[in-house]
Amino acid sequence: MQINIDEARIVADLEKLATFSDTESPVITRVVYSESDQKARAWLKEECKASGLIVREDPLGNLFARWHGSDAAAGAVGTGSHIDAIPHSGRFDGTVGVLGALESIRALQRSGFQPRRSIELLAFISEEPTRFGIGCLGSRMLCGGLSPEKAAALKDRQEVPLDAVRNAAHFSGPLETVKLPAGYYSSFVELHIEQGPILERENIALGIVTSIAAPAALRILIEGEGGHAGAVLMPARRDAFLGAAEIALAVEAAAKGTGVIDTVGTCGLVEVFPGLANSIPNKVKLELDIRDSELARRDAVLREISQACEQIAVRRKLEITSTTLNADAPASCGPEVIDALEKACAEEKIAYQKMVSRAYHDSLFMSRIAPTAMLFIPCKNGVSHRPDEYAAPRDLANGAIVLARAMATLAS
Ligand code: GLV
Ligand code: MN
Ligand code: MN
Repeated sequence: MQINIDEARIVADLEKLATFSDTESPVITRVVYSESDQKARAWLKEECKASGLIVREDPLGNLFARWHGSDAAAGAVGTGSHIDAIPHSGRFDGTVGVLGALESIRALQRSGFQPRRSIELLAFISEEPTRFGIGCLGSRMLCGGLSPEKAAALKDRQEVPLDAVRNAAHFSGPLETVKLPAGYYSSFVELHIEQGPILERENIALGIVTSIAAPAALRILIEGEGGHAGAVLMPARRDAFLGAAEIALAVEAAAKGTGVIDTVGTCGLVEVFPGLANSIPNKVKLELDIRDSELARRDAVLREISQACEQIAVRRKLEITSTTLNADAPASCGPEVIDALEKACAEEKIAYQKMVSRAYHDSLFMSRIAPTAMLFIPCKNGVSHRPDEYAAPRDLANGAIVLARAMATLAS
């Protein structure tokens, strides 16, 4: 089967999507349910419809665009990723897995391929934790990994409940209906930029992901006593920020302490109250991100951080409370999807290497309901979550053609 990818179309589509942003291109800010996000979705829906796909959205805002196969009763082949973007990021994270996959579908249509199983493109809602503190909200709920009650209790950073936020973005209806019925997908495959340096460094065109590392996120509240930065003497202080600083260092020590390169810990969100140079911090909010390819090792790091918090609280006379936002298991990819990707690479004579994904993706959750794998393309200098994120047109096309062939195998 001859399949032709329109490389320029993917580039142009990514460029168009980048115009829906709260910051000027190349700096992308597209927080979920924001006006920019909604405009981007409206454009995406039109693109999907123009390609003959049947579009629907669930009450949370997951977007599905289906190419109906001849066997309506058979589970569908799913593909897709996300279009929300963290503040001050780039144009390729997630979007490649949506617009690249859309071009894969268009290429299959042009080739004359007729799918037996339906092929469905997904744009998952709220993959990034920016707004609700929890990653992969859409795929988490699709696979039943977050109950409707717990989801309804989520609040955004302005303390607005999820229901109010989604309703304002015109998504309504019971969250109970978001979970997909058993067998809905027969397989799932996600195209994504690597977000790391390996493929570029090794000069290998594609990565086939065999497992996804286990992420966890904690919110830690540290409460001390405020006061005048000049008048309160050092021995009398209960400075909440100093406790937070010690916690951040404890995170680094715990992650490095495993002696394994796969353990990573980040303290990327720090809010200091009242946030004034001449006022002693009385309260600090931290959010931590801890990941490892091995669940037991990740959980041991979480325990070590929790013990460090207890010691710091006693020594500095602070109140420290910790909430687990999520602590997810790692994912193993489905052999049949990996096989389909390997076969597609062989057909296209494109070199690949098998690899672990250290970033999390919606595939982490989709793997709970269907055999799932991911296809990585290189990104310049391994950079992601930054405006200088870049994937070359040739690499986008390589990803799209291998995805197209793999989907054809899986949908036949
Ligand atoms: C996804 O954006 C991640 O942080 O891995
Ligand atoms: Mn991301
Ligand atoms: Mn992503």
